[in-house]
Amino acid sequence: MKYLITGGAGFIGGHLAQLLLNDSVCEKVIVIDDLSTGSFDNLKLIADDPKLEVVISDITDPKCDLRKYVKEVDCIYHLAAAVGVELVVREPGRTIHTNVHGTENVLKAAVEFDKRIIVASTSEVYGKSNHEFFSENDDLLIGNPIHSRWSYACSKLLDEFYTLAYCKSHRLRGTVVRFFNTVGPRQTGQYGMVIPRFVKSALANKDIHVYGDGSQTRCFCHVFDTIRALKALADNKESFGGIYNIGSQRKISILELAELIIKELKSESKIKFIPYEEAYEAGFEDMMHRAPDTSKINELIRWRAEHSLEKIICDVAEAMK
Ligand SMILES: NC(=O)c1ccc[n+]([C@@H]2O[C@H](COP(=O)([O-])OP(=O)(O)OC[C@H]3O[C@@H](n4cnc5c(N)ncnc54)[C@H](O)[C@@H]3O)[C@@H](O)[C@H]2O)c1
Repeated sequence: MKYLITGGAGFIGGHLAQLLLNDSVCEKVIVIDDLSTGSFDNLKLIADDPKLEVVISDITDPKCDLRKYVKEVDCIYHLAAAVGVELVVREPGRTIHTNVHGTENVLKAAVEFDKRIIVASTSEVYGKSNHEFFSENDDLLIGNPIHSRWSYACSKLLDEFYTLAYCKSHRLRGTVVRFFNTVGPRQTGQYGMVIPRFVKSALANKDIHVYGDGSQTRCFCHVFDTIRALKALADNKESFGGIYNIGSQRKISILELAELIIKELKSESKIKFIPYEEAYEAGFEDMMHRAPDTSKINELIRWRAEHSLEKIICDVAEAMK
């Protein structure tokens, strides 16, 4: 099998490339990445593997020879995107451009050469919906465009529509995966990811900044669990034309998360509450709760998140040290 990973020098992409290369059926992994939020560090452990080819290029750039690489492979993982709440709030135009035009380019090439493709979407598409566990069958409640954070959800949702449209009209062998917070070693807190940000502060015994009052809850999935699901989906025909949640079902409030990290890392950090408008922008809207219903992917490939939150914290801290 030959694979293409767009955004393969990113956090999830780097781990996925490593997992695929370790499999005896893997003949080649091509990574295309513009290194905007990704880094060679994410590929360091596999950099000498002769089966790895790294192409530094922007998938929205007409000069990027996407068609050539798509033609060469059997399966595409499309992970390249503008990612992270802070980055999205700061640069909504770039977010839309990358997530819509980049995906359009990759999908068109996949259609042209009839390739299997798995497209990364996000739990953000559930928006302000108010269910205990979000299901793929739910209606979605996206916020108002005056709040730039919704540019990420909307652009990813358009990617979903695009993928499913090509599945219908061109028999594209496409699958959409909606990741809920995915974390693990090497994820950077630079773009607003909460666990690496908290762990970094805890290791330095600095204040941990909790945005809002910390009562908002989230679920955190170890990247090793996430990439296990991605690998299993590669040749799963039943998933063609489908949408699947991938995430952990253990809920924790952000305040409890900060307390757990302090305890696990035996840190002397104190918790400091920062109003949303100070952390992001005036009128910033957050979802109070966000947890996945994962029964659909569980029925499909018998997948569920297995790593504990304590293990995630420990792995993130070890990698940072
Ligand atoms: N990590 C999470 O919790 C999470 C949650 C929901 C969805 N996702 C989705 O998963 C995918 C991977 O996210 P990640 O957490 O690994 O983030 P990441 O930022 O580490 O990875 C994204 C990669 O895409 C690359 N990229 C961005 N724009 C590009 C462009 N125009 N051309 C080529 N490469 C480009 C970046 O350099 C980076 O390496 C993204 O599509 C993201 O939206 C992630």
